[in-house]
Amino acid sequence: MSRADAPRTATRIVVLTGAGLSAESGLATFRDSGGLWEQHAIEDVATPQAFRRNPDLVQRFYNDRRRQARKAQPNEAHRALARLSLRDDVMLVTQNVDDLLDRAGARGVVHMHGALNRGVCANCGHRFQVDGDLTTDDPCPSCGQASLRPDIVWFGEMPQQMDEILHALQAASIFAAIGTSGEVYPAAGFVEIAHDHGAECVEINLDPRRSSPLFDRHLAGPATMTVPAWVDDILGSAPTEP
Ligand code: APR
Repeated sequence: MSRADAPRTATRIVVLTGAGLSAESGLATFRDSGGLWEQHAIEDVATPQAFRRNPDLVQRFYNDRRRQARKAQPNEAHRALARLSLRDDVMLVTQNVDDLLDRAGARGVVHMHGALNRGVCANCGHRFQVDGDLTTDDPCPSCGQASLRPDIVWFGEMPQQMDEILHALQAASIFAAIGTSGEVYPAAGFVEIAHDHGAECVEINLDPRRSSPLFDRHLAGPATMTVPAWVDDILGSAPTEP
């Protein structure tokens, strides 16, 4: 029986990652000093209104981030989570739009805020791979309309695969938030759902200062140090697959 049609084991571990996971790969976070939201106003580049108002500016912002993400390499934290994702009872959810977890070999990554290497047609909804730059004049590969946009979830839009995520959070016995400031909902509310359903909640962050009291444990330090150690601990202690 291939893994694809094997009965899906209930999710036991849900991991939520944020920009801090990719910081040591050279990709800027959003709210640290010098972060992306210090360089660009969210309302200028990360809302549907911004895209309607100035599509070329928004396309340039994401084209630049896509180029940077393609130049970046997965780090030890991405590789550790890729090892963890091979267990059938693990769900990796990322707020990041880079593909470093996927390139590290992680399986079934849930990109709840979309992905830089995907585009979508605002006219017909066709999704497609984007490797180079995307411009507003490019015709949709499916309907031919010049209405392409990055497949990124902007502020005010609904994150992707929320039903699957919420279902997994209610079943999880371990929830880990890695490299995220917990400033943006619905992701910032995941710890409360997991906690209320009895999960042990772990925060893994460079700077443990600002944190929800709902976390049971805090592992402070750079992700490339803390995440491999945490994953080894989980894999060492967790029951092996039947
Ligand atoms: N190792 C671990 N954590 C780190 C590291 C590191 N090397 N470097 C930074 N961090 C932590 C910071 O302490 C901070 O808590 O990563 C977090 C980054 O926070 P943000 O910049 O707010 O990024 P994130 O939480 O992913 O933002 C969530 O907000 O703007 C939206 O859509 C955007 O997905 C993004 C969402």
